[in-house]
Amino acid sequence: MDLFEYQARDLFESYGVPVLQGLIADTPEEAEAAAAKIGGVVVVKAQVKAGGRGKAGGVKVAKTPAEAREHAENILKLTIKGHPVKRVMIAQGAAIDQEYYFSVLLDRANRTFLSLCSVEGGMEIEQLAEERPDALAKIAINALTGIDLAKAREIALAGHFPAELADKVAPVIVKLYEVFVKEDATLVEVNPLVLTKDGDIVALDGKVSLDENAEFRHSREEMERDVLDPLEAKAKAWNLNYVKLDGQVGVIGNGAGLTMSTLDVVAYAGERHGGVKPANFLDLGGGASSEVMANGLDVILGDEQVKSVFVNVFGGITACDAVANGIVGALTKLGTTASKPIVVRLDGNNVAEGRRILAEYAHPLVTVAQTMDEAADKAAELANK
Ligand SMILES: Nc1ncnc2c1ncn2[C@@H]1O[C@H](COP(=O)(O)OP(=O)(O)O)[C@@H](O)[C@H]1O
Ligand SMILES: [Mg+2]
Repeated sequence: MDLFEYQARDLFESYGVPVLQGLIADTPEEAEAAAAKIGGVVVVKAQVKAGGRGKAGGVKVAKTPAEAREHAENILKLTIKGHPVKRVMIAQGAAIDQEYYFSVLLDRANRTFLSLCSVEGGMEIEQLAEERPDALAKIAINALTGIDLAKAREIALAGHFPAELADKVAPVIVKLYEVFVKEDATLVEVNPLVLTKDGDIVALDGKVSLDENAEFRHSREEMERDVLDPLEAKAKAWNLNYVKLDGQVGVIGNGAGLTMSTLDVVAYAGERHGGVKPANFLDLGGGASSEVMANGLDVILGDEQVKSVFVNVFGGITACDAVANGIVGALTKLGTTASKPIVVRLDGNNVAEGRRILAEYAHPLVTVAQTMDEAADKAAELANK
């Protein structure tokens, strides 16, 4: 579960990580009131679960409450990387001297924690890693010993902080690690961690992902209510793995592996069709019964960005005829709610019967493709119309 910046900020504050004041606002009026309450220069920040908000025009400095209201009005109209902005945070403005980068995350490949740190923060981490790989320290963290003050200092020095500054950021790094462990996070990222003109270290932007497998150890109902958009909440209630992306093709697959490769073929096919990309993906999991399929299609079709849907199912334990019946049942159940073209690729157990069922049903919105590439191409073409 990915948190919004304002939730990360609140979490940081409760652990004693230095942050600036931040108040949320859902309307320009609330933004104005929040800016007046904070006083002085504020920054209006789009609250979406995507990075690069600054570049997208979602972070604006306001010198007066009236200006904050104006910025909020504009920012609340933006869609950033596929995420419509529904809320802004009014943050106290910092006088920034320098911007740094720090994160700690679960490194699945190496079965350990990993800390990334650089004295050159501000730009997006992918860009930093590509353009200035030497500037980005990658330090493995032993989960049993964690990050104490000495380790924190070692991380900062590896990230090319001068010794004096390393002493200054080390206690903040220790606290951020405490957030990471005690909250069962898989990622705690601060970009930028800043040095203010007054010489204080402050976490100015926070990104936190929490491990849902550890949910039973925490009470996060309220947080979750705020975090999930209506489609995500719907998918969760139906036990479907749904992830929102940025493009135009809705993707439904069964099994994580097939679903991931479906995203790839859609992205490749999209290059031939105006650069369309996956809009989202939904993994039906093992049994793609008619009810599960109906729920899946309901979620995917509910995403306004979706222009076409690619259903890619490999019949295994659940045979293709059952999957085809699932699609028929789903479309019958959804009726006119299903209004976008759907490309279906079925293969595996009992595929001939599955294709026969869909051919007989002959729904005007459904195209059956023989191969995965063919289906991806068709779905991308339809999305580009
Ligand atoms: N409270 C703040 N005061 C002053 N400048 C800020 C503040 N918050 C963000 N900024 C500036 O805006 C930039 C982008 O903001 P950030 O929160 O990192 O969003 P994103 O990473 O999504 O672009 C920061 O690198 C910083 O320079
Ligand atoms: Mg940032």
